[in-house]
Amino acid sequence: MGLRDLLWSEVFAMRKVAWTWIIGLAGLLAAWFAMAHAGDEAAQRPVRTPDCVYVGTPQDVVYRMIELAEIRKGDLVCDPGCGDGRLLIAAARRHQSRGIGYELDPKLAEEARQIARQRGVAEFVRIEEEDIFTVDYSEADVILAYLLPEMITRLVPAFEKMKPGSRIVAHDYPMANIAPDQVVTMISNEDNVEHTIYVYRTPLKPE
Ligand SMILES: C[S@@+](CC[C@H](N)C(=O)[O-])C[C@H]1O[C@@H](n2cnc3c(N)ncnc32)[C@H](O)[C@@H]1O
Repeated sequence: MGLRDLLWSEVFAMRKVAWTWIIGLAGLLAAWFAMAHAGDEAAQRPVRTPDCVYVGTPQDVVYRMIELAEIRKGDLVCDPGCGDGRLLIAAARRHQSRGIGYELDPKLAEEARQIARQRGVAEFVRIEEEDIFTVDYSEADVILAYLLPEMITRLVPAFEKMKPGSRIVAHDYPMANIAPDQVVTMISNEDNVEHTIYVYRTPLKPE
């Protein structure tokens, strides 16, 4: 082998080592990126599947529900399944009430926090990524809810622990076997559909 061939074989060997390093580093970088990204996605996924999909209460229905709930300054208002937090945010803006929203979907929970900040009520409204069936509502003065009938009915034993005179205002779906104190219907300007609002006062009365 001549000097020229020797030099070329050295160059090839060095190139091979360099490529091994480049491929190795690229692999490490890809693995790190995938792990970091997987973490983001996991944080966006609910800890368990919510029991119903998100449908927001139209804004004019939100205002009517708040009115019917007779919210006073400082009242603790809870929304089990709060979605983007619109009921609690509107209540806090209008009546300076305190709000706690429970929402399993982390994206919606984050959106609710962001809207609360934008509307200047972040200090009044807290959003927790909790299952509504594991929560204690006994300190709440008002419940604002938009849940499927079986969901709101499942919450009756928890609502029965609320102080006398507390209000539960439910959009479209009532609690089974509980007599409402008031039933109001309205056509929303947002969707042109009739909405029903059920108002209950504790102690709850069997139908
Ligand atoms: C019909 S939306 C109502 C949203 C909001 N309250 C409103 O009126 O605009 C019901 C919400 O409940 C949430 N949800 C369903 N099951 C839940 C559970 N077990 N715990 C917490 N949130 C739940 C859904 O992710 C959805 O955002």
